[in-house]
Formats: sequence, C-alpha cells, structure tokens
Amino acid sequence: MRFIALEKLINLHDGYTRHYRVEFHTLLLLQREGECFVIEALCPHREHPLEAARIAGEVVQCPLHNYQFSLRSGELLHASDQPCRPLRVWPVVYEDNQVGIIWDYESD
Ligand code: FES
Repeated sequence: MRFIALEKLINLHDGYTRHYRVEFHTLLLLQREGECFVIEALCPHREHPLEAARIAGEVVQCPLHNYQFSLRSGELLHASDQPCRPLRVWPVVYEDNQVGIIWDYESD
C-alpha cells in the first residue's frame, strides 16, 4: 500500500471535480461543502460517467437512470430498476500539502 497524491490542497475548491487514472481505475476527486471525496468515475449500474452527476449533500445521483449512491460509503440508496453493486469509494488522505488516497496494490 502506498500514498497516491492526486491534487495539491491549494487547487481545491467547492465544485472541484477531476478525473485521475490510477492503475486500471479512473477515479473522481470531488470537493463539496469543504469536504473531499474520491469515488469511481463510472456508475456501477451501466458505467455512465459520474462527472456530471448531481450531488446533493452526501448523495450522488447518476444522470442516466437516476440511481443514487452514498458519497461517503458508496451504498446504493435508490435504484429505479435492477439493483447494482455499490459505488466504490476511497477514504481521502491528506499528506503534506496534497490530497490523495492509499492504494492497495494487492487488492486492486
Ligand atoms: S448508468 Fe448510472 S444509473 Fe444507470
């Protein structure tokens, strides 16, 4: 496991949304209401990009079929059709002047 820096703290602001590629995964780093989140970039339902997802509080809503997930835990909160797996989320880690994640090469 090792720290993967994604962004400098000075560049973060509310509304910040940016893709990052880590190994074979594409992640989204978001900042909303002063808090950062790292989630997978594609919806677990049918892989629609979540970059344009609606975020209200701690709920992220995919724009394609309106499935809703917890931004904090990834739990599926609402499905209009077949349920899907949870959204993958990573705990945000701060190190020096950067924000990132701890990447586990064994499990990813
Ligand atoms: S692809 Fe996201 S809800 Fe269907």
